[in-house]
Amino acid sequence: MTDDPPLGTPVLELRGVNKSFGAVHVLHDVDFAANAGEVTALVGDNGAGKSTLIKCIGGIHPLDTGDYYFHGKPVSVRNPKDAGALGIEIVYQDLALCDNLDIVQNMFLGRERRGRFALDEASMEKAAAKTLAGLSVRTVTSLRQRVSSLSGGQRQTVAIAKAVLWNSAVVILDEPTAALGVAQTAQVLDLVRRLADSGLAVVLISHNMRDVMQVSDRICALYLGQVAADVRAADVTIPDVIQMITSGGAARDAQGNGTAVAAVAAVAAGAAGAAGATVNITKNVTDAGAPGEGAPGAAQGSEAAGSEAAGSEAAAATTKGGAA
Ligand SMILES: Nc1ncnc2c1ncn2[C@@H]1O[C@H](COP(=O)(O)OP(=O)(O)OP(=O)(O)O)[C@@H](O)[C@H]1O
Ligand SMILES: [Mg+2]
Repeated sequence: MTDDPPLGTPVLELRGVNKSFGAVHVLHDVDFAANAGEVTALVGDNGAGKSTLIKCIGGIHPLDTGDYYFHGKPVSVRNPKDAGALGIEIVYQDLALCDNLDIVQNMFLGRERRGRFALDEASMEKAAAKTLAGLSVRTVTSLRQRVSSLSGGQRQTVAIAKAVLWNSAVVILDEPTAALGVAQTAQVLDLVRRLADSGLAVVLISHNMRDVMQVSDRICALYLGQVAADVRAADVTIPDVIQMITSGGAARDAQGNGTAVAAVAAVAAGAAGAAGATVNITKNVTDAGAPGEGAPGAAQGSEAAGSEAAGSEAAAATTKGGAA
C-alpha cells in the first residue's frame, strides 16, 4: 500500500476493459492508468462512462473483460473491500460520509480502533487531528462536530482526509467541487494537488475545465465509453479538451469519424474555452440515444447518425460562468 513507487509510474492500471449492463455496452476496450504523484483528470460528457469506470475500479461493478493491475501486478478486485485492501479510496460526492456521525467516527467508520473494553476514542481523535493538521485543514472547529453541520467544502475535506488517514495509494474523487463556492473550491483543489505531491495517485472527475487544467498532470477523456484521448495537461488547451469530450477529438477524426461534429464542437469549445468554464452540454449523443435503452452501444453502432446528433447537440452547448 505504501510502496512509494517512483513518481509517474502507474499504481493502478486497467487494460481493455469492457462493461455492459444488459444490452447496454457502456465501456469499450478502455485503458486507464493512475500514476504516482500525479493528478489524472477523468473527463467526459454526461453518460460517457466515468462513474461506471470508477465503480469498476472500486469493485462495485465486476469487469466483463479486461485486466486490472496494481503496482504492475495482475489483481482481482471483486468488491469494494478488495479495492480498499489495495489502498484505493473513492470519495463520492454525496455518499462519502454519514451525516449522523461526527468527524472522527466518519474517518474511522468500519475500521475503529478498540481498547480493552471499548473503542479507543482518544487515540482515534488524536490520529484524526494529526491527519487534518498534516493536510493544513484549519477550518474545522471541532472533531466531534456532526458531519451534517459541516459545509460542502469541509465535508469534502474530511472525506479526503479519511483517504489519507488510511494510507491510500490511490484516491479517486467524483466531482469534489461540483457544489462548492469559490473559496471552498480553491481549498479542495489545493488539497487535491497536495495529495498528489505527497506521492499518491489521484483521479479527479470533473466537468469544470478550469479545475481540470489547474490541478491535473494528465487528462483521460472518455467519449461514448471509449478513451478519446489520454494526454498530458500541459500539451492541450481547454478548447482541445472540450473537443475530445464533445466529439471524441482528433483520434476519432483521424479515423474519419465525427469530422462534422468536430467542426461544430470546436465552435462551442471556443466559446466555452474562453470562459474556462464548466462545460454544460444540455443534451448529448448518449442522451439522444436514450440511456437505458442501449444508448452508448446503439450510438456506436450507427456512427454517422450518432455524429449528426452530436453535432447539433454540441452546438447547443452552454457554458456556466464557472462553478468556482
Ligand atoms: N447500473 C446501471 N444499469 C444500466 N445502465 C447503467 C448503469 N450505470 C450506468 N449505466 C449507463 O451507463 C452509461 C454511462 O453512465 P455513467 O454513470 O458511467 O456516466 P458518467 O460519465 O459518470 O456521466 P455523468 O457525467 O452524468 O455522471 C449511461 O448511459 C448510463 O445510463
Ligand atoms: Mg458520473
